[in-house]
Amino acid sequence: MTNDKMTNTRLISPSILSADFGNLQRDIEMLNQSEADWIHVDIMDGQFVPNISFGFPVAEVAKKHATKPLDVHLMIVEPDRYLKRFADAGASGLTVQLEACPNLHRTVQVIKESGCRAGVAINPHSPVSLLEDIITELDLVLVMSVNPGFGGQKFIENTYKKVADARNLIEKRNSKALIEIDGGVDMNNAGKLFSAGANVLVAGSSVFAASSPSQMISSLKHA
Ligand code: DX5
Ligand code: ZN
Repeated sequence: MTNDKMTNTRLISPSILSADFGNLQRDIEMLNQSEADWIHVDIMDGQFVPNISFGFPVAEVAKKHATKPLDVHLMIVEPDRYLKRFADAGASGLTVQLEACPNLHRTVQVIKESGCRAGVAINPHSPVSLLEDIITELDLVLVMSVNPGFGGQKFIENTYKKVADARNLIEKRNSKALIEIDGGVDMNNAGKLFSAGANVLVAGSSVFAASSPSQMISSLKHA
């Protein structure tokens, strides 16, 4: 694949983890009007990660108001138990954590059978090479650029190397997977991430803490 092609797809997936939950409908309507491509929905169970975010009722509210695809990131143990429910709740994409899936190949097949885009996230300590024998099955590889669990953390610089590793693996295996980055994304790293071969940037605090969230989404997208 040429350099041009691999950097062609540049999407922004703002994370509603940093939204104002008292005004969730308003914030989702802002995302609808913005240049956001997807809406990132972070599900945390207090077990896989040391934090609990929200579950089905909030995902359903997001679905009710969003005009854009819901990019659901499951930071939970035993995700297989809930794949169908999140698909029914309106997910367009379901991303599971590699570290939570002993039978990842089966999990990915179930996600695809549910009609969702299948994604696998890897934590900062997990090398991209662990995806070698699943990469051709994936629609998305999510490289965590912080340890999952909280918004507003500092971006881990080793992520650039992992984006390059993921890009190499995808090309070597002729996979169609998009590369998504999640955690600490802001204007200091967005352009570099896209140049390194990332396709989708998740952004929570940088978007929702901005004086104009929709302007920040545009700036990130064209970084
Ligand atoms: C981190 C979550 C992220 C988070 C990103 O565990 O998976 O999606 O919302 O938030 P920021 O952009 O604030 O790092
Ligand atoms: Zn996430």
